[in-house]
Amino acid sequence: MDCLQDWPEPIVPVQSLEGGQVVPAQYIKPPPERPVLDRDVEPDWGPCVPVIDLGSLQGGEAGRRAIGSACKEWGFFQVVNHGVSHELMARVRELWREFFYLPMEEKKAYANSPVSFEGYGSRLGVQKGAILDWGDYYFLNFLPEMVKNHSKWPASPTLLRDTIEEYGAQVIKLCHLLLKEISISLEVEEDFLHKALGGGGVGACMRANFYPRCPQPDLTLGLSPHSDPGALTVLLPDDRVEGLQVRKGEEWFTIYPIPNAFIVNIGDQIQVLTNGNYKSVEHRVIVNSAKERLSLAFFYNPKDDILIEPAQEFVAPNKPPLYKKMAYKDYKLFIRSLGPRGKLL
Ligand code: OGA
Ligand code: NI
Repeated sequence: MDCLQDWPEPIVPVQSLEGGQVVPAQYIKPPPERPVLDRDVEPDWGPCVPVIDLGSLQGGEAGRRAIGSACKEWGFFQVVNHGVSHELMARVRELWREFFYLPMEEKKAYANSPVSFEGYGSRLGVQKGAILDWGDYYFLNFLPEMVKNHSKWPASPTLLRDTIEEYGAQVIKLCHLLLKEISISLEVEEDFLHKALGGGGVGACMRANFYPRCPQPDLTLGLSPHSDPGALTVLLPDDRVEGLQVRKGEEWFTIYPIPNAFIVNIGDQIQVLTNGNYKSVEHRVIVNSAKERLSLAFFYNPKDDILIEPAQEFVAPNKPPLYKKMAYKDYKLFIRSLGPRGKLL
């Protein structure tokens, strides 16, 4: 597709706008899409996404029910006792911060294009004149090995590449554990999701998101509402400021990260495989005027050419398949051309 070869307009890193007194017009959302921010109010500790202690599940009935209801009601949960080193989480976050603090020219050497999205970027979606989000990112491929290319990862700070390798390997292990526990919660074989996503040949990629401080956070969003197109997302949130909001009904709920926890969410492909039983839920990011925010999203995806459709276990005469069969790579291209645009399934 021609339209995907390059960005429709010159790219302006949001970080280069930091310090301005007003948000430029191209970032101002129409009034109904603007967030309602009331920072004088204490956090609302009311309904919030459930917390799952992975260390104490061990296939037990209570854990199974907790995961099942989180995936049905929120599509999101936080995990503790997840097996990933806390020290490594802090280290990878700090190195990414250092990357975003590099001089602009150094970062621009990695400028991405919509062909693969790999590299340093500031927009998703290729529609000319689209309203943009208040965030920059760095996107890179981690799996399959064949598409991993260290030369497309930042060379600076020097420890970043090795640390991403170490971090990615531990998060992949966590994804395998999560897929097993989610399968068990669905009352199917424990390797059900692993197999349905393509077994050994799965994909994984990472997006480091950097949301600079914003002079008028009530007019814009760090990341517009979207659901994640892949199978499972493991998010390492900022440890100093919140920003991720999850939709439930007509309301948006802020997630207040627990120290050293990950935020996990179900992606579109698990919604399709389970025929809508488990939900891939819309989420967005709000920004703020006092603090920048860094998050690291790790996406675990099906094998590129695998066909995903509702599995027979979730289809019955009174529960017809809700989604059409589609190769993951075609779905990914479709979503990428649109950019974050609410929920499409
Ligand atoms: C994403 C995402 C949330 C965040 O990268 O898909 O939803 O908190 N990120 O940055
Ligand atoms: Ni997302």
